Amino acid sequence: MMIDPVSGFSKLNKEKKIEWLLKTYLTGSSDAARILKQYWNQDDDVQLLHEEFTENTLSNYYLPFGIAPNFAVNGYRYAIPMAIEESSVIAAASKAAKFWGTRGGFKAEVLGTQKVGQVHFMYSGNKPKLQKFFREVKPQLQAAVAGLTRNMEKRGGGVLEVELRDKTDVLANYYQLHCTFDTKDSMGANFINSCLERFAETFQLAANEYDDFDPSEKNIEVVMSILSNYVPECVVRAEVSCPVSELADHGLSGEEFAEKFVRAIKIAEIEPFRAVTHNKGIMNGIDAVVLATGNDFRAVEAGIHAYASKDGQYTSLTHAEIKNGTFRFWMEIPLALGTVGGLTGLHPLSKIALEILQKPSAEELMKITAVAGLAQNFGAVKSLITTGIQQGHMKMHLMNVLNQLEANASEKEALIHYFKKHNVSHSAVQEQLNKIRA
Ligand code: MEV
Repeated sequence: MMIDPVSGFSKLNKEKKIEWLLKTYLTGSSDAARILKQYWNQDDDVQLLHEEFTENTLSNYYLPFGIAPNFAVNGYRYAIPMAIEESSVIAAASKAAKFWGTRGGFKAEVLGTQKVGQVHFMYSGNKPKLQKFFREVKPQLQAAVAGLTRNMEKRGGGVLEVELRDKTDVLANYYQLHCTFDTKDSMGANFINSCLERFAETFQLAANEYDDFDPSEKNIEVVMSILSNYVPECVVRAEVSCPVSELADHGLSGEEFAEKFVRAIKIAEIEPFRAVTHNKGIMNGIDAVVLATGNDFRAVEAGIHAYASKDGQYTSLTHAEIKNGTFRFWMEIPLALGTVGGLTGLHPLSKIALEILQKPSAEELMKITAVAGLAQNFGAVKSLITTGIQQGHMKMHLMNVLNQLEANASEKEALIHYFKKHNVSHSAVQEQLNKIRA
């Protein structure tokens, strides 16, 4: 049976929204309302704050918020906040932090902070006339955004460049105003989009009044004005290095470990099926910090994966080498992050996350986040080339399995003890639990 459309849903309060949901989609689920309400914050103001982040909020969706301590980055020791549900991520990050803490720590450097936005438009007239018009209208474009850029300029940022790009070789009549920005400590999405819309409007109006254009040329059609989440000039580099001899692990000599490690990275560099999973492991660390600090993880994900394919084939974001007895492992990634504005100053936990990180600038946060990604990848590849991933992963996953099987506190205690010395699998946990319960 087709469900009737609902109208005015967004205007209902959340109790009524839940009622409608129960009536329409959750008729057999007696517990749904209780569970949805159980996740409401007891403090009405905190609840309202979360509800107002978005539309049609019914409840809150928790993720664990933890920290990975002992991260030595450029000589400072951070505890890195992470919001993540995957059981082994924080443990792996903490382990990698400890490992590199005694081998010189992480080094990180911001290579650029340029953000991008574009006005996409169609023009079917004479090209040299458009180029001449652009040169003449450019100061007007800058002037049109003066009110928007004033504060940003006070902080050292603003519009860096506005360029006319001819894309007619790929799509007939298609041009862009390709614009670059420095948004300092804010991620800058709203600032960039506001500037772009003002550019578009000014550009279109000026074209309409431009005497050299004939009537059809005056009619520039703006298709859209929007920032790009591809930021190949907003890049941070993170690195670790140590003498090869310091890498001995799990019965492997330092040389053997380093060679195996470099080979694993090489495979991710040349084989896209592996590269995607390899990079997913990096994103385990990056997304967790991006989420904890109230940044936009979808933007970061989109930009990083585009960067991983910038040379035409999807490849590893990390690289490794052995040179003159030294092992070096590094990564360069684009990261558009903010430490002011957006959710960063609104979500109480993001505010705490930034305080834990000693109120970093956006550049500092870029470094810390990249380090979390590099550490995560080191941990994953180290496990993969030694014990295999399941040993550590399943140990960390044990609590989830115990919860799935509804183990009580004393059963948990007994089985955690038992699995210190045995391999964890779903069936092994079930079997031991059955024995206890028999
Ligand atoms: C799991 O979340 C991440 C890994 O698959 C990453 C990797 O394979 O490198 C372990």
